[in-house]
Amino acid sequence: MGLLTNATQLIGDQRPERIAILTGAGISAESGLSTFRGTGGYWKQRKVEDLASLEGFERDPAVVWTWYEERRASMLAAQPNAAHRDLATLESHPTGYCKVITQNIDMLHTRAGSNHVLELHGNAFRARCIREETIVAIPDPLPNLPPHCECGALLRPDVVWFGETLDARIVAMASTAVQMADLFLIIGTSGFVSPACEMVALARKAVIVEINPEETPISRAAHIALRLPAAEAVPAIVKAIHASRSRTD
Ligand code: OAD
Repeated sequence: MGLLTNATQLIGDQRPERIAILTGAGISAESGLSTFRGTGGYWKQRKVEDLASLEGFERDPAVVWTWYEERRASMLAAQPNAAHRDLATLESHPTGYCKVITQNIDMLHTRAGSNHVLELHGNAFRARCIREETIVAIPDPLPNLPPHCECGALLRPDVVWFGETLDARIVAMASTAVQMADLFLIIGTSGFVSPACEMVALARKAVIVEINPEETPISRAAHIALRLPAAEAVPAIVKAIHASRSRTD
């Protein structure tokens, strides 16, 4: 019996009500978006410290904005895939919950219909004034790079860079969702970046299923590690969850 069948049977028996889902760049790979650490990933060609740190932004804000604008254009052109779409169908449950916790800034979960998305690393479609902290939607197209706030200070992408603190409210909500979960799905993350990689340790009550074609540091903690692409494995898992919920026994 294959591992995917094992996973769907386990889930069918368990009938999960409280579901936490952690996603990373791999879930959007089949929508055509690049990952960071995989073959052809951003960090194979570019330097993190130039593009995803405050120091890099202060050195050359136009370079950082150019990279985010190229990525934002790809994100806008991309469509949610079967994994994003099927996860969005899990939200309606009378007593339980389904929380998507994502490291992605591409908004594909929201565009697929998920309403409860906790964005750990912010969102590529918003900008923030570096002086006043005001948050604004990024005008389309941006007139010139780098853009400025009405107050005259620079705007930066409203994302979290390396060395920066995550929004404590979002981290607290994500941690609670994982602690209370009876099923924790970890999809398309290499598990190298904190605090996402530490969340698996909070899932003490949950069956943990990892979906990733490659082994990661998280794999050892997972009850089942499915070495499959997200758009193939997620629909089967979601189907098993819905089937378990519609059973009356
Ligand atoms: P990574 O690029 O580190 O990891 C992507 C993971 O997705 C890898 O483990 C791949 O094996 C897996 N993968 C690839 N294709 C897949 C598919 N079709 N289905 C499922 N999995 C697949 O991306 P993240 O873990 O998201 O932060 O990276 C975390 C953070 O590091 C990012 O949010 C970003 C980055 O630097 C910042 O920029 C602050």
